[in-house]
Amino acid sequence: MPYYMKLGRIPRKRHIQFRRPDGALYSEELFGTEGFVGPSSTLYHIHPPTQVSGWKTLYHTEPEYVERDVMRMRHLKTAKMPAKGDPVSGRVVLFGNADVEMFACQPAEQMTYHYKNGQGDECLFFHYGSGTIYSMFGTLRFGPKDYVILPKGTIYRIEMDERPDDGSDNDEFGGHTKAQMPLGKFIGFETCNASHILPPPRYLSKKTGQFLEDAPYCERDLRVPFEDDDHPLAYDESGEFEVRIKARNSVHSYIYSYHPLDVVGWDGCYYPYCFNIMDFAPITGQLHLPPPIHQTFEGHNFVICSFCPRMLDWHPEAIPIPYNHSNIDSDEILYYVEGNYKARRGIEIGSISLHPQGIPHGPHPGTVEASLGKKWTDELAVMCDTFRPMYPTKAALELDDPDYPESWRADHHAPLEQRNGVARQTKPAAEGETTTTW
Ligand SMILES: [Fe+2]
Repeated sequence: MPYYMKLGRIPRKRHIQFRRPDGALYSEELFGTEGFVGPSSTLYHIHPPTQVSGWKTLYHTEPEYVERDVMRMRHLKTAKMPAKGDPVSGRVVLFGNADVEMFACQPAEQMTYHYKNGQGDECLFFHYGSGTIYSMFGTLRFGPKDYVILPKGTIYRIEMDERPDDGSDNDEFGGHTKAQMPLGKFIGFETCNASHILPPPRYLSKKTGQFLEDAPYCERDLRVPFEDDDHPLAYDESGEFEVRIKARNSVHSYIYSYHPLDVVGWDGCYYPYCFNIMDFAPITGQLHLPPPIHQTFEGHNFVICSFCPRMLDWHPEAIPIPYNHSNIDSDEILYYVEGNYKARRGIEIGSISLHPQGIPHGPHPGTVEASLGKKWTDELAVMCDTFRPMYPTKAALELDDPDYPESWRADHHAPLEQRNGVARQTKPAAEGETTTTW
């Protein structure tokens, strides 16, 4: 939603008569936020968006957090999470606080309804799978490594592309059997504090809102809703249409008499969009640069960063992996997408690590020396830093490796060990292994 756009047919001015071919008025809807002063769009429906014929509460969504008083590093392996539910009901919250919830989803089935999150903005990151999002603002096509930003209140339906059946029982997600194979995999972040997930303000011109020249991405990288012959903007259909609405930590089933995607045109600065993480142009430096250079989005009290393949620091004496850092104010969660993570013991594709505020973290034993002279990293990871502790759910504990904190105990200096003849478990990164750099 960073810039103004319009799609479909709209009248010459706001709030004037705009008529359907049969002479009746279209129903104008101001889709506004923050009490008429936040981002908004104006939509024109074929039918009044207020016509509801029934509703009921389906299920509650408030996460139950556990171990709220436990401060320790965590490592979740999500690759083998079972496929379940659809792209909404299959979401499993793993961490959260009063500002943001983080979930993972490996959907087993398609959505048979439309969904509206009336509580918070959503930022999805698709690791595997592709599909189409049909929304009141138009259609989005998404694929692997796409972020999808879905602002609060957007009515949408995610349709995953069916996965080609190659006849094998294994899949790249983590060895599910054919019967258990998910349609895709994504993680997501949802705001709980009424803030919006937006590009960092420092990337934008204060005068025009335009992305600045030194921002790591810009308007051209954002894929906005479209319409074409196969993906119309408006569906003029009557019947019984279910829209599941999340509000008050519950999902309600509302029945509409008309297709909920009946917008013939809209304009404004509030709409969903896609952004592929590989379109993030990393900022690099002579010496190590801190994580804010990787920042991609932010909400109130949290940021989302993209660690992408890039050249490493080029000073002849540079240490290309980070210094130990005291994230005394932030919990740090990383989702590992791609790359060689052997330098981080136990970490694998689909892992999630949590490094809590209160203690410093940094390179794994043996990795500093091994990183010297490295020119390139192929890491790909999504990070969420929060200003308040992220609490795990029971589902997170089921995936948690309690031995993960032990992985920092080995000595960093292998030559000294050898001199002392001490048997330690230090395993420096092997030649050719890529170092991790957050
Ligand atoms: Fe860090």
